[in-house]
Amino acid sequence: MPANSPIGIFDSGLGGLSVLQAVRSLLPHAPLIYCADSRYAPYGERTDAFLSARTVAIGDWLRAQGAKALVVACNTATAHGIAALRAQAEWPVIGVEPGIKPAAQASRSGVIGVLATAATLRSQKFQRLLAEHTNEGRRFLCQPGHGLVECIEAGDIDSPEVMSLLQTYLAPMLDQGVDTLVLGCTHYPFLIPAIRKLTGDRLTLVDTGAAIARQLARQLAANGLTAAESTPLAAPGTLTLCTTAGASALQTMADRLLAQASEVHTVTIEGVSA
Ligand code: DGL
Repeated sequence: MPANSPIGIFDSGLGGLSVLQAVRSLLPHAPLIYCADSRYAPYGERTDAFLSARTVAIGDWLRAQGAKALVVACNTATAHGIAALRAQAEWPVIGVEPGIKPAAQASRSGVIGVLATAATLRSQKFQRLLAEHTNEGRRFLCQPGHGLVECIEAGDIDSPEVMSLLQTYLAPMLDQGVDTLVLGCTHYPFLIPAIRKLTGDRLTLVDTGAAIARQLARQLAANGLTAAESTPLAAPGTLTLCTTAGASALQTMADRLLAQASEVHTVTIEGVSA
Protein backbone atom coordinates (compact mmCIF):
# COMPACT_ATOMS: atom_id res chain seq x y z
CA MET A 1 0.00 0.00 0.00
CA PRO A 2 1.63 3.35 -1.01
CA ALA A 3 2.46 5.69 1.90
CA ASN A 4 0.37 8.51 0.38
CA SER A 5 -2.79 6.41 0.45
CA PRO A 6 -5.53 7.66 2.78
CA ILE A 7 -6.14 6.63 6.38
CA GLY A 8 -9.64 5.17 6.82
CA ILE A 9 -11.67 6.30 9.83
CA PHE A 10 -15.14 5.04 10.67
CA ASP A 11 -17.89 5.26 13.24
CA SER A 12 -21.57 4.43 13.45
CA GLY A 13 -22.20 8.06 12.54
CA LEU A 14 -20.95 11.52 13.38
CA GLY A 15 -19.10 10.65 16.61
CA GLY A 16 -15.89 9.63 14.89
CA LEU A 17 -15.50 13.23 13.72
CA SER A 18 -14.24 13.94 17.26
CA VAL A 19 -11.40 11.48 16.57
CA LEU A 20 -10.92 12.75 13.03
CA GLN A 21 -10.38 16.26 14.44
CA ALA A 22 -7.59 14.95 16.67
CA VAL A 23 -6.00 13.04 13.76
CA ARG A 24 -6.24 16.12 11.53
CA SER A 25 -4.53 18.29 14.12
CA LEU A 26 -1.66 15.81 14.67
CA LEU A 27 -1.27 14.75 11.00
CA PRO A 28 -2.58 17.71 8.97
CA HIS A 29 -1.05 16.46 5.72
CA ALA A 30 -2.45 12.94 5.88
CA PRO A 31 -5.19 12.15 3.37
CA LEU A 32 -8.24 10.82 5.20
CA ILE A 33 -11.39 8.97 4.21
CA TYR A 34 -14.19 9.05 6.79
CA CYS A 35 -17.17 6.74 6.76
CA ALA A 36 -20.25 7.38 8.93
CA ASP A 37 -22.46 4.30 9.04
CA SER A 38 -25.43 6.48 9.94
CA ARG A 39 -27.87 4.13 8.23
CA TYR A 40 -27.30 1.72 11.12
CA ALA A 41 -26.75 4.20 13.98
CA PRO A 42 -27.03 3.89 16.87
CA TYR A 43 -24.72 0.88 17.18
CA GLY A 44 -25.11 0.94 20.95
CA GLU A 45 -28.46 -0.84 20.89
CA ARG A 46 -27.48 -3.57 18.37
CA THR A 47 -26.51 -7.21 18.86
CA ASP A 48 -22.93 -8.40 19.30
CA ALA A 49 -23.14 -10.46 16.07
CA PHE A 50 -24.38 -7.50 14.03
CA LEU A 51 -21.64 -5.24 15.37
CA SER A 52 -18.88 -7.71 14.60
CA ALA A 53 -20.09 -8.39 11.04
CA ARG A 54 -20.75 -4.73 10.27
CA THR A 55 -17.32 -3.64 11.56
CA VAL A 56 -15.64 -6.16 9.25
CA ALA A 57 -17.82 -5.07 6.29
CA ILE A 58 -16.87 -1.41 6.73
CA GLY A 59 -13.20 -2.24 7.26
CA ASP A 60 -13.27 -4.23 4.00
CA TRP A 61 -14.96 -1.38 2.19
CA LEU A 62 -12.40 1.18 3.36
CA ARG A 63 -9.57 -1.12 2.38
CA ALA A 64 -11.15 -1.50 -1.07
CA GLN A 65 -11.16 2.33 -1.31
CA GLY A 66 -7.37 2.19 -0.89
CA ALA A 67 -6.99 2.95 2.82
CA LYS A 68 -3.52 2.07 4.16
CA ALA A 69 -4.58 1.97 7.82
CA LEU A 70 -7.83 1.98 9.74
CA VAL A 71 -9.05 3.85 12.80
CA VAL A 72 -12.18 2.30 14.28
CA ALA A 73 -13.35 5.59 15.81
CA CYS A 74 -16.14 3.88 17.71
CA ASN A 75 -15.90 2.28 21.15
CA THR A 76 -18.85 -0.01 20.40
CA ALA A 77 -17.45 -1.33 17.10
CA THR A 78 -14.01 -1.73 18.68
CA ALA A 79 -15.42 -3.70 21.60
CA HIS A 80 -17.28 -6.15 19.38
CA GLY A 81 -15.50 -6.14 16.02
CA ILE A 82 -11.82 -5.29 16.23
CA ALA A 83 -10.66 -8.84 16.91
CA ALA A 84 -12.47 -10.11 13.79
CA LEU A 85 -11.07 -7.23 11.73
CA ARG A 86 -7.51 -7.88 12.86
CA ALA A 87 -7.85 -11.62 12.30
CA GLN A 88 -8.79 -11.29 8.66
CA ALA A 89 -6.19 -8.87 7.26
CA GLU A 90 -2.75 -7.54 8.06
CA TRP A 91 -2.84 -3.78 8.13
CA PRO A 92 -2.59 -1.25 10.94
CA VAL A 93 -5.96 -1.23 12.73
CA ILE A 94 -6.33 1.19 15.65
CA GLY A 95 -9.34 0.99 17.92
CA VAL A 96 -10.73 3.15 20.71
CA GLU A 97 -11.74 2.12 24.19
CA PRO A 98 -13.08 4.09 27.13
CA GLY A 99 -10.27 5.92 28.95
CA ILE A 100 -10.44 3.86 32.12
CA LYS A 101 -6.70 3.99 32.79
CA PRO A 102 -6.29 7.80 32.46
CA ALA A 103 -9.44 8.25 34.54
CA ALA A 104 -8.03 6.01 37.27
CA GLN A 105 -4.88 8.15 37.30
CA ALA A 106 -6.85 11.42 37.37
CA SER A 107 -9.42 10.61 40.04
CA ARG A 108 -8.83 11.77 43.62
CA SER A 109 -12.08 10.51 45.10
CA GLY A 110 -11.61 7.02 43.61
CA VAL A 111 -15.18 7.12 42.28
CA ILE A 112 -15.24 7.32 38.49
CA GLY A 113 -18.23 7.61 36.18
CA VAL A 114 -18.31 5.90 32.79
CA LEU A 115 -20.83 7.01 30.19
CA ALA A 116 -20.84 4.67 27.18
CA THR A 117 -23.23 2.70 25.00
CA ALA A 118 -25.03 -0.32 26.40
CA ALA A 119 -23.20 -2.54 23.89
CA THR A 120 -19.78 -1.23 24.98
CA LEU A 121 -20.56 -1.65 28.67
CA ARG A 122 -21.70 -5.27 28.32
CA SER A 123 -18.74 -6.34 26.15
CA GLN A 124 -16.12 -8.72 27.53
CA LYS A 125 -13.37 -6.40 26.33
CA PHE A 126 -14.71 -3.54 28.45
CA GLN A 127 -15.49 -5.76 31.45
CA ARG A 128 -11.88 -7.01 31.43
CA LEU A 129 -10.54 -3.45 31.23
CA LEU A 130 -12.72 -2.40 34.15
CA ALA A 131 -11.67 -5.38 36.28
CA GLU A 132 -7.99 -4.54 35.70
CA HIS A 133 -8.47 -1.07 37.21
CA THR A 134 -10.96 -1.77 39.97
CA ASN A 135 -9.55 -2.21 43.48
CA GLU A 136 -10.38 -1.51 47.10
CA GLY A 137 -9.87 2.21 46.77
CA ARG A 138 -11.42 2.68 43.35
CA ARG A 139 -14.82 1.98 41.85
CA PHE A 140 -16.53 2.73 38.56
CA LEU A 141 -20.17 3.70 38.08
CA CYS A 142 -21.19 2.69 34.56
CA GLN A 143 -24.15 4.31 32.89
CA PRO A 144 -25.49 3.56 29.39
CA GLY A 145 -26.17 6.81 27.53
CA HIS A 146 -29.48 5.70 26.01
CA GLY A 147 -30.88 8.34 23.68
CA LEU A 148 -27.82 10.59 23.50
CA VAL A 149 -26.43 9.30 20.19
CA GLU A 150 -29.84 9.68 18.51
CA CYS A 151 -29.89 13.36 19.56
CA ILE A 152 -26.35 14.04 18.34
CA GLU A 153 -27.05 12.29 15.01
CA ALA A 154 -29.96 14.72 14.62
CA GLY A 155 -27.58 17.66 15.24
CA ASP A 156 -28.90 18.26 18.76
CA ILE A 157 -26.22 18.80 21.42
CA ASP A 158 -27.95 21.11 23.90
CA SER A 159 -31.76 20.92 23.71
CA PRO A 160 -33.90 20.51 26.85
CA GLU A 161 -34.14 16.79 25.96
CA VAL A 162 -30.33 16.42 25.92
CA MET A 163 -29.96 18.39 29.15
CA SER A 164 -32.59 16.27 30.85
CA LEU A 165 -30.97 12.98 29.73
CA LEU A 166 -27.59 14.20 30.98
CA GLN A 167 -29.10 15.33 34.27
CA THR A 168 -30.69 11.89 34.73
CA TYR A 169 -27.40 10.11 34.04
CA LEU A 170 -25.00 12.42 35.89
CA ALA A 171 -26.87 13.46 39.04
CA PRO A 172 -26.67 9.99 40.69
CA MET A 173 -22.96 9.86 39.86
CA LEU A 174 -22.31 13.22 41.51
CA ASP A 175 -24.35 12.13 44.54
CA GLN A 176 -22.02 9.16 44.94
CA GLY A 177 -18.83 11.20 44.80
CA VAL A 178 -17.77 10.85 41.16
CA ASP A 179 -15.03 13.39 40.35
CA THR A 180 -13.98 12.01 36.94
CA LEU A 181 -16.18 11.09 33.97
CA VAL A 182 -15.06 8.86 31.12
CA LEU A 183 -16.64 9.84 27.81
CA GLY A 184 -16.77 6.25 26.54
CA CYS A 185 -18.42 6.95 23.21
CA THR A 186 -16.91 9.09 20.47
CA HIS A 187 -20.18 11.00 20.07
CA TYR A 188 -20.03 12.33 23.64
CA PRO A 189 -17.21 14.91 23.29
CA PHE A 190 -19.80 16.98 21.40
CA LEU A 191 -21.74 17.14 24.69
CA ILE A 192 -18.85 18.63 26.70
CA PRO A 193 -20.36 22.16 26.71
CA ALA A 194 -23.71 20.72 27.89
CA ILE A 195 -22.00 18.63 30.58
CA ARG A 196 -20.03 21.68 31.75
CA LYS A 197 -23.24 23.71 31.87
CA LEU A 198 -24.76 21.12 34.21
CA THR A 199 -21.77 20.22 36.36
CA GLY A 200 -19.47 23.26 36.19
CA ASP A 201 -15.92 22.18 36.99
CA ARG A 202 -16.86 19.38 39.36
CA LEU A 203 -15.82 16.67 36.89
CA THR A 204 -12.59 15.88 35.09
CA LEU A 205 -13.71 14.73 31.64
CA VAL A 206 -11.69 11.98 29.94
CA ASP A 207 -11.75 11.77 26.15
CA THR A 208 -9.19 9.66 24.28
CA GLY A 209 -9.24 11.33 20.82
CA ALA A 210 -5.73 12.82 21.09
CA ALA A 211 -4.29 9.55 22.44
CA ILE A 212 -5.79 7.65 19.48
CA ALA A 213 -4.20 10.10 17.05
CA ARG A 214 -0.80 9.57 18.71
CA GLN A 215 -1.25 5.79 18.57
CA LEU A 216 -2.10 6.06 14.87
CA ALA A 217 1.04 8.11 14.22
CA ARG A 218 3.15 5.49 16.02
CA GLN A 219 1.60 2.65 14.01
CA LEU A 220 2.11 4.45 10.71
CA ALA A 221 5.77 5.03 11.59
CA ALA A 222 6.25 1.42 12.68
CA ASN A 223 4.82 0.24 9.34
CA GLY A 224 6.77 2.70 7.16
CA LEU A 225 3.59 4.48 6.10
CA THR A 226 4.23 8.07 7.18
CA ALA A 227 5.89 9.52 4.08
CA ALA A 228 3.33 12.09 2.96
CA GLU A 229 2.28 13.40 6.33
CA SER A 230 5.84 13.84 7.56
CA THR A 231 6.81 16.12 4.65
CA PRO A 232 6.77 19.62 6.19
CA LEU A 233 5.77 21.43 3.00
CA ALA A 234 3.15 18.94 1.87
CA ALA A 235 -0.29 20.34 1.07
CA PRO A 236 -3.12 19.75 3.57
CA GLY A 237 -4.30 16.17 3.20
CA THR A 238 -7.43 15.50 1.20
CA LEU A 239 -10.52 14.62 3.20
CA THR A 240 -13.18 12.37 1.71
CA LEU A 241 -16.42 12.21 3.70
CA CYS A 242 -18.87 9.33 3.16
CA THR A 243 -22.07 8.25 4.86
CA THR A 244 -24.39 5.30 4.40
CA ALA A 245 -27.44 7.55 5.03
CA GLY A 246 -28.53 10.95 3.73
CA ALA A 247 -25.64 13.39 3.42
CA SER A 248 -27.07 16.37 5.28
CA ALA A 249 -26.36 15.43 8.93
CA LEU A 250 -22.69 14.63 8.27
CA GLN A 251 -22.34 17.68 6.02
CA THR A 252 -23.75 20.01 8.68
CA MET A 253 -21.53 18.61 11.46
CA ALA A 254 -18.43 18.53 9.23
CA ASP A 255 -19.00 22.13 8.10
CA ARG A 256 -19.33 23.14 11.76
CA LEU A 257 -16.21 21.30 12.97
CA LEU A 258 -13.71 21.20 10.14
CA ALA A 259 -12.04 23.92 8.14
CA GLN A 260 -12.88 23.45 4.46
CA ALA A 261 -14.98 20.31 4.85
CA SER A 262 -15.48 18.63 1.52
CA GLU A 263 -18.75 17.49 0.01
CA VAL A 264 -20.29 14.40 1.62
CA HIS A 265 -21.00 11.35 -0.55
CA THR A 266 -23.69 8.81 0.23
CA VAL A 267 -22.36 5.28 -0.30
CA THR A 268 -23.79 1.77 -0.10
CA ILE A 269 -21.85 -0.76 1.93
CA GLU A 270 -23.19 -4.30 1.63
CA GLY A 271 -22.26 -7.23 3.78
CA VAL A 272 -24.75 -7.24 6.61
CA SER A 273 -28.20 -5.92 7.24
CA ALA A 274 -30.08 -5.20 10.46
N1 DGL B 1 -19.70 6.55 18.58
C1 DGL B 1 -19.89 5.21 18.96
C2 DGL B 1 -19.08 4.75 20.15
O1 DGL B 1 -18.03 5.29 20.36
C3 DGL B 1 -21.20 4.53 18.77
C4 DGL B 1 -22.42 5.17 19.25
C5 DGL B 1 -23.65 4.47 18.75
O2 DGL B 1 -23.84 4.39 17.54
O3 DGL B 1 -24.43 4.02 19.59
O4 DGL B 1 -19.44 3.84 20.83
